[in-house]
Amino acid sequence: VQGALWGGRFAGGPADALAALSKSTHFDWRLAGYDIAGSRAHARVLHKAGLLSEEELAGMLEALDALDADVRSGAYLPADSDEDVHGSLERGLIERAGPQLGGKLRAGRSRNDQIATLGRMYLRDHARIIAAGVLATVDSLVEQAEKHLGVAMPGRTHLQHAQPVLLSHHLLAHAWALLRDVQRLADWDKRAAVSPYGSGALAGSSLGLDPNAVAADLGFDSAAWNSIDGTASRDVYAEFAWVAAMIGVDLSRISEEIILWATKEFSFVTLDDAFSTGSSIMPQKKNPDVAELARGKAGRLIGDLTGLLATLKGLPLAYNRDLQEDKEPVFDATDTLELLLPAVSGMIATLVFNTERMESLAPQGFALATDIAEWLVRQGVPFREAHELSGAAVKLAESRGVELWDLTDEDYAGISAHLTAEVRTVLSTEGSLDSRSSQGGTARTAVESQLAELKKQLDAA
Ligand code: ARG
Repeated sequence: VQGALWGGRFAGGPADALAALSKSTHFDWRLAGYDIAGSRAHARVLHKAGLLSEEELAGMLEALDALDADVRSGAYLPADSDEDVHGSLERGLIERAGPQLGGKLRAGRSRNDQIATLGRMYLRDHARIIAAGVLATVDSLVEQAEKHLGVAMPGRTHLQHAQPVLLSHHLLAHAWALLRDVQRLADWDKRAAVSPYGSGALAGSSLGLDPNAVAADLGFDSAAWNSIDGTASRDVYAEFAWVAAMIGVDLSRISEEIILWATKEFSFVTLDDAFSTGSSIMPQKKNPDVAELARGKAGRLIGDLTGLLATLKGLPLAYNRDLQEDKEPVFDATDTLELLLPAVSGMIATLVFNTERMESLAPQGFALATDIAEWLVRQGVPFREAHELSGAAVKLAESRGVELWDLTDEDYAGISAHLTAEVRTVLSTEGSLDSRSSQGGTARTAVESQLAELKKQLDAA
């Protein structure tokens, strides 16, 4: 069979149904460049081990360069008879170097150690692209936070008004989560920087090849210490898929808020025309499709992770063909995030906030009740009692359909002698915000130090 990698012990070729099932070129072709890089490195260790002469190495590298150029230009493509990227590229090599020389490259390596290595190379490159996209999204959040320093908004728990916070504080909460995702990718890379090349099919090679030379050649920190682990483990892929899913979830949570904020009822933000869509029937519509697609794609990214984990569960060591299913989920994850991140960061960067509305709503819904309770604590009242007294003020205000600051000094005095007119100092958004000035708080001064720390960590990321 043309392009087949085995044949000796077979009397016939594969059934069409098997060949169709087996085929992976339609998704693993994107690894062709990494496969050729691996082949170059492998040719060098074969030469070092005395298995390729000087001339043979030169001829091999020349043929690989020619193949590389043809793959890049699209002149060389997988044939229908090719099963996977490795087999196809061996065919291409033999076409260029001849069977005598081209047939030597496969010594001491297996598609099992090849594919495990190439996947890591691909993911390490794409982790960098994704980290840059996440950092750009963080930058959009930071810019908006800096632009709106001092603007108050209703902080919520259970989606109910809870306490006033600064808009910048809220935006930076999303920034911190995304920054941790970038830090996770960097930390993940330490584990991804181990090369399985040299592990062979599962047991290593008898040919005296140097796996660390290949590893260094391909930009890894070291070669795998266990050839079974090298070929059979995919936890590094799964960990990548987890971080990708987490990024998706973090983007989805921001997006859900933007969707809410853009409703008539909230009217907190207006989306830029460039990042919103219209309706084919309702002329007035301006829809937050970027945010909705982000929310939707989080589900897809979670699916990529769970699909991969399900593939791995129950696999005996070492390589099993099930592992061919490792690629599409992680490719889908990188494709999805690389498509999504520029759209989300652009959407955030161009949001226009209705700051007047946010500010006017910030203290409403009795959002200053905690301030009353904490003010009482500062007057020496036990918090249990302070909570009750503030609650009584809320009850009174609610029964009258007014806010806490509408109650009179007499109303407060009637609830408790502790509630003197002085309590009014905390009955404003500014008073409430300014009082929360310790690290991590929402006071402007605390948010300014937070911004400085975030930027420091961003520079280091
Ligand atoms: N296409 C295979 C994969 O993606 C490469 C390894 C094939 N190994 C094998 N023993 N059939 O996993």
